[in-house]
Amino acid sequence: MKRIGVLTAGGDTPALNASIYGAVVRANQLKVEVYGLMKGFNSLFNPRVPHVHLNPLFSAIPELDPTRGGTILGGSRDYVDPDDAKTLEEILERLRRLGIEGLICIGGDGTLNGMQPLCDRIPAVLTPKTIDNDLGLNYLNEVDEWLREPSTSPPGYCYKRAATRQHVNLEQMINYVTPGFATAVFVSAGGVERVRTTAESHRRIAIVEVMGRNSGFIALGSAYGQPDVVLIPEHPLNMELLIERVKELYDIQKNVVIVCGEGIVDESGCELGAARRSTDPAGNIMLSGASEALRDRLIEAIGDDYFRRARRAQTAGEAIFTRKLGHTQRGGRPLAFDRFHAAQLGGKAVEMLFEGLNNAVATLQWNNRRGFHVDSIGGHALRDRWGYIHPRLVPADFYDPTSMQPSRLGIEYLLPIFSDAIGPDDMEQTRQSLFDAGNLFRPYHSVNTDINKRIRFLEDAC
Ligand code: F6P
Repeated sequence: MKRIGVLTAGGDTPALNASIYGAVVRANQLKVEVYGLMKGFNSLFNPRVPHVHLNPLFSAIPELDPTRGGTILGGSRDYVDPDDAKTLEEILERLRRLGIEGLICIGGDGTLNGMQPLCDRIPAVLTPKTIDNDLGLNYLNEVDEWLREPSTSPPGYCYKRAATRQHVNLEQMINYVTPGFATAVFVSAGGVERVRTTAESHRRIAIVEVMGRNSGFIALGSAYGQPDVVLIPEHPLNMELLIERVKELYDIQKNVVIVCGEGIVDESGCELGAARRSTDPAGNIMLSGASEALRDRLIEAIGDDYFRRARRAQTAGEAIFTRKLGHTQRGGRPLAFDRFHAAQLGGKAVEMLFEGLNNAVATLQWNNRRGFHVDSIGGHALRDRWGYIHPRLVPADFYDPTSMQPSRLGIEYLLPIFSDAIGPDDMEQTRQSLFDAGNLFRPYHSVNTDINKRIRFLEDAC
């Protein structure tokens, strides 16, 4: 293999550049050229195939900085339609003309679904990323527990999980954690800590909404910020228990902090946040408004009198507030944990192509003896019997719905990831760069400006 292509698809994470960097470093050692395809699969739809040569003379271009969040290649949620044979052939012809012999897709479940039709035509492997930590399996045959039924709105099928038969053995999880997750939790747990002192001072109840779609891993990890209550989408809301707990806490400490995953569901399983479908083939649901909906319910259930009696606020509406941490969880400098493992996974993907693997996924495994180490698994292991890849959900064993906190096993799961996640340089970097006086007068210089100058097109290569 002389030349490979790499692309970043789906939502960004702080560790994408680190994954690309890891791939380039390994490719340099193997004397393979790496072409970065711009804006994910979108580049392949463009007859000019915008791309950047990432390792001229087998050394990484300076813009490729593994400590920088986001992706210099840009990302999109555009995917190849597996039934569109004409477009697929056009894409293959473009890749052939570019001399690309293998493809590394850096992405999550949507990307793996999108990569599938290409695998029949060109070797392609996936390097996992997603802040949601939802790419992987809690145990090997978990995919067999998915059931599907025809649905009318939207037309197609709806998928449901049958009851879990297995307890999770941490050492047997497939892809223990995805790069990007640790940094997202760093932001969310820090956000919870910060909201706490203001809720404490003003005797308020804060609802902090975190990302993760239908998976509650980020909410679970936010427990590091010591919220009083953690609500994850995998467990339907128990309003009665929640109100009881909130009042009990408020009576004692005069403030409460609740973390809620954006995908939390009510007693009947309906998402509290408004849901709309995104364009990727994973059928991802975009959610908004869960914390606001929860706030409305709390205001109604607790009522103004409760706060007036306690003389702590005029109304429930004043006392209960929401904050969405939003895209701050996805942006910025990756923590050492994410950087290091993302780079390892990028390197592993290059090796996988060299070993002749196709339609396979690089994974980050953990066990007590070896700690974290990279491995790989066939893409089909992540697909259900109809070929569909589902987001990994927080296993029931990781959460205690009575205390509304991570369970003992949930805590055991988090420990290996976070006990050493922050590198000394992460803090030093903040100390040195955030209040650099130059920031006040130097305009921001976007890396996109430099990358634009490096973009080449198919016709340049011919
Ligand atoms: O999948 C990553 C993620 O950040 C989710 O946690 C979130 O729901 C979604 O992407 C947001 O997507 P967008 O940036 O397109 O609004």
